[in-house]
Amino acid sequence: MLDVDRLYEKLKNIRVGNPLCRFTRERCESLLPAISRIEELKRERNAVILAHNYVAPEILYGVADHTGDSYGLSKTALQSGAGVIVFAAVRFMAETAKILNPGKTVLNPNRNGACSLADSIGPADVRRLRAEFPGHTFVCYINTSAAVKALCDVCVTSSNVYRILERIENENVYFLPDKLMGQNAIQHLQSKGVRKNVRVYEGACHVHEEYRPESVDFVRAQNPGVEVLVHPECRPAVVGKADFTGSTTGMLDYVRRSPGQSFFLLTECGLTGILQSEFPEKRFVGSCTMCEYMKSNSLADILRVLENPSPEDHVLLSPEILEGARRCVERMFEYAE
Ligand code: 13P
Ligand code: SF4
Repeated sequence: MLDVDRLYEKLKNIRVGNPLCRFTRERCESLLPAISRIEELKRERNAVILAHNYVAPEILYGVADHTGDSYGLSKTALQSGAGVIVFAAVRFMAETAKILNPGKTVLNPNRNGACSLADSIGPADVRRLRAEFPGHTFVCYINTSAAVKALCDVCVTSSNVYRILERIENENVYFLPDKLMGQNAIQHLQSKGVRKNVRVYEGACHVHEEYRPESVDFVRAQNPGVEVLVHPECRPAVVGKADFTGSTTGMLDYVRRSPGQSFFLLTECGLTGILQSEFPEKRFVGSCTMCEYMKSNSLADILRVLENPSPEDHVLLSPEILEGARRCVERMFEYAE
């Protein structure tokens, strides 16, 4: 059972910009009743809580059974023996858990589960593009709705996009919806000498799109020896300046392995919070950029969906969407493993 000392120990070193991510011992004490009640309900309902690396620290360290990036959490969802999955993230991630577990109850506690990238494309766009570009393999980033996945051939995540694009046999590929990740993938394929004609859609993540290469130059000049870690949703000019490019869990593993002492992360600052907690002796420079959608998750909403879920809290998908989207996600596992 989590007590205030253990919770405070985990949260006390988190210093990211947002005051909501600062924890005193008193604040930890005030969180304990909700945490204990959630633990009780998890046991009663045979529920498991999955939480993405970007959600609030009190969820990650207070109640989550598994944390990770989109790929890791999808695999965990697939392998979970629990009857109920509560997915603290954004809607497309909870949908992916449902796609992989159609017979289970999947609850989305996030009432604002939008994602600027996933919401940039709908099924009507994919139908139009498929008619416009026949003979192309349609590759979708996992940051898409289940309805979009159901119309695509294979899904990818930030941890396997380059590898899967290399392995796809067809020379003609349409990648959606992230134009920046698509441009990064094209550069990667060129650097590997892989001949492929990759068309990309126009979407972007409003958090990662903001980063500029000049900021990397500035931070490097101010912090000699700093290592720069970049998410592949960033611009190619930013990725080109990185010491490491990869998924959120990939960045976490990089810091774990690195003997370096200071790091600049170009991704949502929830990840910086985890790293400050796990590696208090290391220094994380740069400012905090937040994804308001991921930060819309709260302990109160997790408690609510476990105690008394409303119909909107359940992730429900039609049999056609489930079937098409499952084929698309399963092909990702085949290519990635
Ligand atoms: P990861 O799969 O790398 O965690 O990324 C998810 C995401 O939404 C990044 O903005
Ligand atoms: Fe979507 Fe960007 Fe938020 Fe990731 S950070 S969930 S891509 S809006």
